[in-house]
Amino acid sequence: MTSHTVHVAPSSGAYDVVVGPGILDEAGKRLAPLLPSTSAFIISDSNVAPLYLERLQASLAAAGIDAPHAVFPAGEASKNLSTLSDLLEAMAMARLTRSSAVIALGGGVTGDMAGLAAALYMRGIAYVQVPTSLLAMVDSSVGGKCAVDLAAGKNLAGAFLQPLAVLADTSTLQTLDGSVFSDGCAEIVKHAVLADSELFGQLETEPLAREGEPGLLASVIARNVDIKRRFVEADEREQGRRKLLNLGHSIGHAIEAASGYTLGHGHAVAMGLCAIARASEKVGWAEQGIADRIEAVAAAHGLPTESPYPADDLISYARLDKKSEAGGITLAIPERIGSASLRFAGFDEFSELIRLGVA
Ligand SMILES: NC(=O)c1ccc[n+]([C@@H]2O[C@H](COP(=O)([O-])OP(=O)(O)OC[C@H]3O[C@@H](n4cnc5c(N)ncnc54)[C@H](O)[C@@H]3O)[C@@H](O)[C@H]2O)c1
Ligand SMILES: [Zn+2]
Repeated sequence: MTSHTVHVAPSSGAYDVVVGPGILDEAGKRLAPLLPSTSAFIISDSNVAPLYLERLQASLAAAGIDAPHAVFPAGEASKNLSTLSDLLEAMAMARLTRSSAVIALGGGVTGDMAGLAAALYMRGIAYVQVPTSLLAMVDSSVGGKCAVDLAAGKNLAGAFLQPLAVLADTSTLQTLDGSVFSDGCAEIVKHAVLADSELFGQLETEPLAREGEPGLLASVIARNVDIKRRFVEADEREQGRRKLLNLGHSIGHAIEAASGYTLGHGHAVAMGLCAIARASEKVGWAEQGIADRIEAVAAAHGLPTESPYPADDLISYARLDKKSEAGGITLAIPERIGSASLRFAGFDEFSELIRLGVA
């Protein structure tokens, strides 16, 4: 089966995202011409490393790339400064130099942490993303944002660093837990609502499945990378248009926080997306019927559509959100399937929208 290549070209550095089955075994061949030297360092988590580390190392070794590794305990709870510090020490122990490269093998947590480790080590070395979760393939591995969580909130310490390449082996998705697969579907539904009505129609008639036709899954992933590419290239540092990618996330983040971060990110985003669609429809910003369509597609992908937490709890968390701006928040509002816009809402207005969107 052929692979798909999406060329992402932000001004701070262009790279290719390659999507397809079996790419892991081609990693050495594909990376050898791109890496600054034959020294690399793989960062992975305790679930992904036992499944795919050896294959990646074998492919790199066959291309003459030496790649020792570090593995951290899987899960969002590891995405903090303490794990980051351990990773940086391990990189120093492995005697990485300015011309070494970090390779992130795993989901969004691994990608975020490995990217930040690469940004910090010796003031910045190269890095490559090898995403293995659906969410990482369609979202977090593209765009150059990397961060860890602080006690005060999620993703509060981070950097922008573009990868040298992104290699997404879609056959690795077969070992993904069903609910983690659904998490990735939430970002796909979000992309479709934002920018691709045809994709949305496809998701309505034929929901994505982990066991589905591999060629179809790979092409949907590449299509999503291309959607994210358009937003990222237009606004690398998220000062304007890129904020549209936060569709569903403003209420979603409050739901995530209310759950004490026990809910999967995509699950919270799906609920947030349904809530903002319902609210936008009620105040007349969105076309009638949009919320029903989004809810149906979310449910067809195993995603929840209603917040288990009442509106007042979410409003309290939204007010605490460190990422909100003075006096309010810039919201992405779905207008019709395939189109959204940004609106600044004061906290009172945002609270009212949460009340309208959450039962
Ligand atoms: N940088 C960005 O632009 C950006 C964008 C969106 C999300 N994120 C971040 O991404 C993270 C969420 O990503 P995620 O959902 O991939 O989380 P994750 O990395 O924790 O992966 C989810 C789970 O799946 C496991 N896993 C991953 N690939 C697997 C595979 N092929 N087989 C079996 N198990 C596998 C992981 O070990 C983990 O237990 C959050 O921290 C979020 O903040 C970052
Ligand atoms: Zn997200």
